[in-house]
Amino acid sequence: MGLRRFLAAATERVLDHEENIRATGITPGVEAAEVRRALAERYGDFSRRWPAEELIDDVASMLRDWNVHVTHPRYFGLFNPPVRSAAVAADLLVAGFNPQLAAWSHAPASNEIEKHTLDFLAGRLGLDPRATASTFTTAGAEANQSALLVALTHAWPEYGRRGLAGTDVRPSVYVSSESHHSIEKAAQLCGIGRDAIRTVSTDAELRMSASALSEAIEDDRRGGRHPLMVVGTAGTTGGGIIDPLAELAEVSRRENLWFHVDAAWGGAACLSPRLAPALAGIERADSVTWDAHKWLSVPMGAGMFFCAHPNAVRKTFGAATPYMPTGVEDTIDPYSSTIQWSRRNIGLKVFMSLAALGSDGYREAIEHQARIGEVLRERLRERGWEIVNRTPLPVVCFSRDEIDRVRAGAARIAERLQAENFWTSPVRLGDRSPVLRACITSYETTEDDVAALAEAATRIAAERSVGPRARRGGG
Ligand SMILES: Cc1ncc(COP(=O)(O)O)c(C=O)c1O
Repeated sequence: MGLRRFLAAATERVLDHEENIRATGITPGVEAAEVRRALAERYGDFSRRWPAEELIDDVASMLRDWNVHVTHPRYFGLFNPPVRSAAVAADLLVAGFNPQLAAWSHAPASNEIEKHTLDFLAGRLGLDPRATASTFTTAGAEANQSALLVALTHAWPEYGRRGLAGTDVRPSVYVSSESHHSIEKAAQLCGIGRDAIRTVSTDAELRMSASALSEAIEDDRRGGRHPLMVVGTAGTTGGGIIDPLAELAEVSRRENLWFHVDAAWGGAACLSPRLAPALAGIERADSVTWDAHKWLSVPMGAGMFFCAHPNAVRKTFGAATPYMPTGVEDTIDPYSSTIQWSRRNIGLKVFMSLAALGSDGYREAIEHQARIGEVLRERLRERGWEIVNRTPLPVVCFSRDEIDRVRAGAARIAERLQAENFWTSPVRLGDRSPVLRACITSYETTEDDVAALAEAATRIAAERSVGPRARRGGG
């Protein structure tokens, strides 16, 4: 119904947003009541039929004025990127063609495009694509959940049919204080419970300590628990820390544990020969999580799950039904090898971005962002800030003595920076008091952007007492 009109109007608004992003306020000054009132007034019981142009105009204005703009080059936030043009076009193709990827035979093109893309990326991680089961997931949380489910099934084949009651075991999963909390949720969802999560201590650089890991495993075995899985992180959410993956792989192998690497953000470093050595050890993982909607700059969500145990994956997610199309030789049906059933062609946007940009284009973008991270560190140090995290990846956590004099410290400075159209966040690393965090999430961020951030943060921190939050409108 009126697709041409809808697309023409939407295309105009998307282009307009993209072309004017630098002039856009990053953080909306809006309360829930204002949004709810507008929705109630304009769309109350959906009795009105909106013409295409008017509807697109109204909705695009809401998205522009009342959302945080993570695609802005001065959004130094939580791994949410601007999006590649080819990826936006890919999502349009997917919405329009609406391929169903559940059974291979319903979407040979889409399934093979995804497989081709995942095989390429698995190879870049150092995994053998022919011996790796790979799939696109909704996001990183689903990939982490998949890892835990497959590890459980691999260790205790009865787990899938009878649950934990059929196994008589108390599994332990080893993380550090810096690991992502989706692992905790995964433990609850898998039925092993959040108490199965053991937090291993870290070294001075907040990397999981391999010797503390060995001790925790030994303690658990003595206490009648059953060590199952070690989770190393390649690019922690707070500080971008890379755990000592090779050492963790070694402990996992020695102790016969599943080694999972959560590389949701940092995985992209493997596309740069300069940064890839920082991920050494990832090639020994039993499974890996990597989000293309983070550093590969495609629209959300595009998680990826790679697993070196294809048989365990099939055992975990296998299903036989009288209604799904029959399988085709030498192919895999995603409905019986992943958590999802009906599935969207998530990987098309990754395939098309890689094809449009080339692997060299990605290398350049990733190295550019890493370099801008270095420039930010330099600008901050010049102005007397301390950089409190150590990572080759572009997450910069910084602090200075004056921060504690500013009322509410890092959080208040981050609010004041928002009023000057920079988005940073306060973060707590280990057990120290909150510091400021800035991640170079955009391939468009320049040296001038980070110099301006350093200048503004320094000026604000020098104020004796930072006043109440200045609200900023969106448009
Ligand atoms: C290290 C890490 N792992 C997992 C996740 C969860 O990924 P998602 O938000 O794509 O589900 C995140 C999210 O930021 C993350 O930083």
